[in-house]
Amino acid sequence: MSGRELPLEGCISARETALVDGLKRWVAIPSISTDPARTADVIASAEFLHDYAISCGLSRAEIWETEGHPAVFAERTEDPALPTVLVYGHHDVQPVDPLEEWEAAPFQALERDGKLLGRGTADDKGHILMHLEAIRGILDARGRLPVNIKLIAEGEEEDGSEHFEELVVRHRDRLAADVVVISDTGMLAEDLPGLTVGLRGMAYWEVTVTTSSTDLHSGVYGGAVLNPIAVLAELLAGLHDGMGHITVPGFYDRVRELTSDERAELAAVPFDESGFLRDVGATAGGEGGYSVMERRTIRPTLELCGIWGGYQGPGAKTVIPARASAKLSSRLVPDQLADDITRLVGEHLRRAAPPGAEVDFSLIHDGRWVLTPSRHPAVDAAAAALTKVWGRETVFIREGGSIPPVATLADQLGAPCVLLGVGLPDDRIHAPNERVVLNQLFKGMQAVGLLWDRYAELGRSGLRG
Ligand code: BES
Ligand code: ZN
Repeated sequence: MSGRELPLEGCISARETALVDGLKRWVAIPSISTDPARTADVIASAEFLHDYAISCGLSRAEIWETEGHPAVFAERTEDPALPTVLVYGHHDVQPVDPLEEWEAAPFQALERDGKLLGRGTADDKGHILMHLEAIRGILDARGRLPVNIKLIAEGEEEDGSEHFEELVVRHRDRLAADVVVISDTGMLAEDLPGLTVGLRGMAYWEVTVTTSSTDLHSGVYGGAVLNPIAVLAELLAGLHDGMGHITVPGFYDRVRELTSDERAELAAVPFDESGFLRDVGATAGGEGGYSVMERRTIRPTLELCGIWGGYQGPGAKTVIPARASAKLSSRLVPDQLADDITRLVGEHLRRAAPPGAEVDFSLIHDGRWVLTPSRHPAVDAAAAALTKVWGRETVFIREGGSIPPVATLADQLGAPCVLLGVGLPDDRIHAPNERVVLNQLFKGMQAVGLLWDRYAELGRSGLRG
């Protein structure tokens, strides 16, 4: 591009249609990382992103293989003296069951009322394209970027990021950056710009209770033997007391209580508690003595995520199964350690089971909680960018969800992490009818455009904080 520069804002908004079209095409690739039958689709998704990044003006893109699903790396270096920003996202998506609850096919994105409905629209493909189309807009306006940009999009975030640490260690030099911007989070409301400064960690387990060596006729044996479903149900029901506190001894030992100032700060965030529940038809539950906001962000949980055992087919089958199973998980908060909690919960379940009931407890995956550095220039600049675009003061929020790769990136790269996402609580991520509010993505493009300029102003030394 030569001559006069075009206005940045206009060149970025000119990318809106392309973003929506690109997202529709990408959503059509069902990159479900947890489903072995979708392995080829996760690869196709990586290839799609690789080509998309190049088409947006990144000068180099590579597919990075792992022992699991591939990640995509792309970069554009303008000048080594400029700050380098690493953007993190994930190109895999969650499964789509229950399929019958979708209002449209999950992989044929449907545009309706300013939203795009489809698996991965919000979590996280929309966020990645928000960045890529913003880059294209900036290049259209100026022919160059104000910072060096790198993008890392992993392919198994939704499946526990098992190979991410190894990937980051292997490519540490290529990933080196002055700041990492993670775009896989949200805000509390469309009219309330929010920047996430904390995420919970997690540990996910499966438990199986076995009470006999074979299924048993419920008339011949019933009433005279342990029933694994009953044992499991009692074990699970006993994990919380009547006040919603977790009963596992030691579970809360390392929980960092908030100071009253911190609690007041959290309470001051405008948050429509009843609307939050009403939007999804839910009823408040959980730990007594804490607000809904606290329960979902700064308190640890132990949730039951799935349960099965015995006959599930049509009609009746008079049998006592040999075993019953459940999936459960904890969201962890500072300073809980996933290894400790896994040990405590496993020991507790084994101890609480009656003699003759064998408890098999295994970890599926875990990840650390995150607190980003507060009052850091990189974080402040992101808040300022959101404030400018949304026209309202940005609030700092803590999120209940988990993004284990964030701790990995922070540790391995030693760079500050900024959690800049434009999702909304009602995006229905992981659930039927996931959607993204397109205007959030459009404003997000403007915000990152401003942010890169601010990072350039701060320079590499100013970004160090
Ligand atoms: N984007 C989410 C995390 C998230 C959700 C952040 C809501 C902020 C608000 C991410 O893709 C995700 O779902 N993570 C998993 C991690 C797990 C599979 C280890 C989660 O939180 O369940
Ligand atoms: Zn997710």
